[in-house]
Amino acid sequence: LNVWINGRNRSTLDYRDRGLQYGDGIFETMRVRRRGIRLLDLHLERLYKGCGQLRIRAPDPLLLRRELERIAARRIEGVLKLIVTRGCGPRGYRPAVRERATRIATLHALPRATPDDAAKAVRLRVCATRLSTNPSLAGLKTLNRLDSVLARAEWSDARIWEGLMRDVDGNWVCGTMSNLFVRRGRDLLTPPIDRCGVAGVMRRWILQNAGSLRLHPVERRIRWDDLRSAEEVFMSNAVVGIRSVRTIEGARLGKLRFIGADTAQQLRSLLDRQ
Ligand SMILES: Cc1ncc(COP(=O)(O)O)c(C=O)c1O
Repeated sequence: LNVWINGRNRSTLDYRDRGLQYGDGIFETMRVRRRGIRLLDLHLERLYKGCGQLRIRAPDPLLLRRELERIAARRIEGVLKLIVTRGCGPRGYRPAVRERATRIATLHALPRATPDDAAKAVRLRVCATRLSTNPSLAGLKTLNRLDSVLARAEWSDARIWEGLMRDVDGNWVCGTMSNLFVRRGRDLLTPPIDRCGVAGVMRRWILQNAGSLRLHPVERRIRWDDLRSAEEVFMSNAVVGIRSVRTIEGARLGKLRFIGADTAQQLRSLLDRQ
């Protein structure tokens, strides 16, 4: 059984857990590579920041790190997901302050096609579902992911890798499970995650390392015209890394094609050397 709840190998959860009752918690999805966790420090940083912002009593950092490393060592390659909820409490939204956080770790095989196809550019479609705006939660990877669930339910064609999502004002923000990057010349644009979206760990790594490839990272709102004039578009997340985009298909907006993929390739090489 590849499930650990509060460090114990079991799979059942108390129905009173606030993670289930209210989505009161956060999670991290991490890539296991060579029996270790890629970008673990960045994942832990985001997790503890999230716990702080939501005032969830976070698990002891040393205990958590050791537990995650021990679980990751069971697979050469894979995915390790960690959920931290506020824990169990009485009915009602009000947190009681003394809840004890629940941590749920699960270990999975890599999604099929992840390693082989890393360099293959993918097809994107445009989603009709908009992202909910909430500056208090923007950036955090909370358990409330219904925008992504609705958006991902919009298509079933397995040849479409990801759906691109807009905020309520029509700015392009992210994919259902990934962050968006647009390159024009040496400028590397990515939307600010200040009103909605997840501040991806891979996004952060890219922003930190763009300079070493002589790229100039710019956080700003992205419109359809920015996508139309892009030389290269790619998506990122912690599990797949960096994926070049070949086409974006929007029913009424038309279809965009991208030929460039060199920056994504360079970033992937740099990431592989991590
Ligand atoms: C909506 C959304 N944006 C971005 C990301 C990428 O985040 P990370 O790089 O931490 O995997 C995810 C990951 O699942 C996501 O669901």
